[in-house]
Amino acid sequence: MDINLIGIPIFYGADKRGPEYAPSKLRDKDIVSVLSKHNHRVYDFGNLHVPEIKEYNKFYSHHNLKYLKAIVEVNTNLAHVVYSSLKANSFPLVIGGDHSIGLGSISGVSKAYKNIAVIWMDAHGDINTQDTSESGNIHGMSLANAMGLGYEDLTNVYCERKKIAPENVFILGARDLDDGEKILIQEKNLNVYTIEKIRDKGIEKVVNEITQKLKNRNIEAIHLSFDVDFIDAKYVPGTGTPVGQGMNVEETKKLLKSLAETKLIKSMDFVELNTLLDKEDITADLAIDLLDWTFKYI
Ligand code: ARG
Ligand code: MN
Ligand code: MN
Ligand code: MN
Repeated sequence: MDINLIGIPIFYGADKRGPEYAPSKLRDKDIVSVLSKHNHRVYDFGNLHVPEIKEYNKFYSHHNLKYLKAIVEVNTNLAHVVYSSLKANSFPLVIGGDHSIGLGSISGVSKAYKNIAVIWMDAHGDINTQDTSESGNIHGMSLANAMGLGYEDLTNVYCERKKIAPENVFILGARDLDDGEKILIQEKNLNVYTIEKIRDKGIEKVVNEITQKLKNRNIEAIHLSFDVDFIDAKYVPGTGTPVGQGMNVEETKKLLKSLAETKLIKSMDFVELNTLLDKEDITADLAIDLLDWTFKYI
């Protein structure tokens, strides 16, 4: 397969420095050769431009949405690169950056395919809006925005329609949800698999259940959005919003393998690796290991 590697050096959605260095960190660790091992041709597209905004200007375009204008701009450009990659039959692998870029990726995928699903592996839901967010950090809103919920500059990124139907969204690993997010999950009856639920059912059964739903709905493509804080905090020091009670590395790999083996994953984000918080590159090395593993089966 052809893989387009796209780096997005952005921290604005997290409002905490660190994730902007992840793309070059993974390149230093030879991500291109690692992925090429598995019979893939990897094209490194370099990094997309992220405009420089001074900290004191972060509320310039909205009083509660930090760095709104820059995030909209980056996501619009990302959407187009993802769309073009898919149209050229390449697999867009988007390296964040923080999770605000999930919006751009999904926007691009949703233009390339009619029926898409999103699998969002994350300790968080990232389904806040400007009204429910306690932080004003847009990385906690990107999945809501992709579903057409939230501030219109965000929901209108790339094209003015919702990018993904709520029934085709699967959130895996959630264990730190804000009150507003919990309400939305009830309201929209979202498919949420908490760690507890995944362990109870077993990974195989969870993936079977998801695949069955996708089949019934004639899904053509899955976008996999992987936030490294999906994994238990004790294995990932290098992330900005770590959460305990998560899966270990072995369980995570088992899940990634089963998902990859559906052969429906056509695009992926890898986000929230914070190199400034990392200890002895533990999280960066884990990122390489996880991508190596996943692309063996994709
Ligand atoms: N729920 C919190 C917020 O909205 C945390 C979000 C963390 N998101 C992430 N992509 N790491 O601010
Ligand atoms: Mn996230
Ligand atoms: Mn998260
Ligand atoms: Mn909270």
